[in-house]
Amino acid sequence: MKPVRTAVFPVGGLGSRFLPATKAMPKEMLPIVDKPLIQYAVEEARAAGIEEVIFVTGRGKTAIEDHFDYAAELEQTLAARAKQDQLAELRGIPGKPGAIAYTRQQEPLGLGHAVWCARQLVRNEPFAVLLADDLIQADTPCLKQMIEAYNEVGGNIVAVTEVPAEHTNRYGVIDPGATHGRLTEVRGLVEKPAPEKAPSRLAVIGRYILQPVVMDVLGSQQAGAGGEIQLTDALARVIGVHPFHGYHFEGKRFDCGDKAGHVMANIAFALERPDIGPAVRTFLHDLSATA
Ligand code: G1P
Repeated sequence: MKPVRTAVFPVGGLGSRFLPATKAMPKEMLPIVDKPLIQYAVEEARAAGIEEVIFVTGRGKTAIEDHFDYAAELEQTLAARAKQDQLAELRGIPGKPGAIAYTRQQEPLGLGHAVWCARQLVRNEPFAVLLADDLIQADTPCLKQMIEAYNEVGGNIVAVTEVPAEHTNRYGVIDPGATHGRLTEVRGLVEKPAPEKAPSRLAVIGRYILQPVVMDVLGSQQAGAGGEIQLTDALARVIGVHPFHGYHFEGKRFDCGDKAGHVMANIAFALERPDIGPAVRTFLHDLSATA
């Protein structure tokens, strides 16, 4: 079984759900406390052993490239002021030279098309896909949990979680087969089904481990839900080629592409921080007492 060394981050989306904040700033740069969403996703990938990062970007996304680069003037200033901790933190962000590649999705044709744009960089290897909007707070990073499962069963794995019936139309939904521990066999996948048509309430969350055959299938994928080329539809076509599982991850997922989800993530992550957690906790306590 080939190890998963590469991760694709589709970051070309317009972020229209988060206007006006995303008018001139990529949605992936929205901070949760003091760190942009995309940095959480890249750190999660690196913690899972990912060595090569591929960003599929678009127009107006150069802030992401700058974020994963050295910032010479800023670093000189921090060094002169002996701010060693901050300096070390910033220095860690870019990772190894040459281990980040960028390609552009020229047209917003959908998530499947964005992933397919990375095919030449992924080559003939299994790869992970992480959607930075989906932020997962967990003791073991979600992708690491999935790679541990992958090392047992191989094939394709998608993160899944149970959602309320009325929310199936926001997600890819799996048709589940047998469950063993945290793994459920995937017998089918549908993108954004209406509740009455959904095969289950098990929704796909933005973490995938995929075999290279998915890239071949994406090359001939027709537009689906919302007129977009859907990753979910391509995945439905590779069922049977390799083992295919949904992975019930441990952790709490926040939809940070949604304004309420973003606020909740800020609160949850702030509460875990030793520097600001106590002040935020007191504030929330006082707020609920006066409500
Ligand atoms: C995308 C995928 C969907 C998945 C979701 C997870 O949808 O198409 O299958 O369930 O991410 O967040 P989007 O949120 O881009 O509409």
